[in-house]
Amino acid sequence: MLNAANRDPEFFSDPQQFDIRRQPNRHIAFGMGIHFCVGALLARTEAQILFRTLLERMPQIQLVDEKADWDLRKPNSRMLHSLNLAF
Ligand code: HEM
Repeated sequence: MLNAANRDPEFFSDPQQFDIRRQPNRHIAFGMGIHFCVGALLARTEAQILFRTLLERMPQIQLVDEKADWDLRKPNSRMLHSLNLAF
């Protein structure tokens, strides 16, 4: 499972911790090898634009509580359903 692989403690120290500066970070969120995601560059570019714009427009944004509501219906992925923020 991709999700489990990206949290393998043999490869990632403190694997449950979100660490945007993690180095090394050999995750496989976009797969690997011959079927590596062809949209990875687009997805990364969109994410950079999204977070830059969000922080410019809502500089006070912060977590209200850290409990996220995950949609776990798909066995091979997990999607964020809701997260309480204030801005
Ligand atoms: C955060 C966003 C994305 C994630 C996490 C993601 C993740 C992945 C993963 C894990 C694979 C490999 C699946 C496998 O090994 O069978 C994959 C393949 C693929 N992705 Fe993405 N993807 C994202 C965005 C996109 C976008 C924006 C596009 C197109 C505009 C795209 C198009 C594709 C295609 C066509 C493949 C198949 C590549 C192949 O089989 O050779 N993806 N993606």
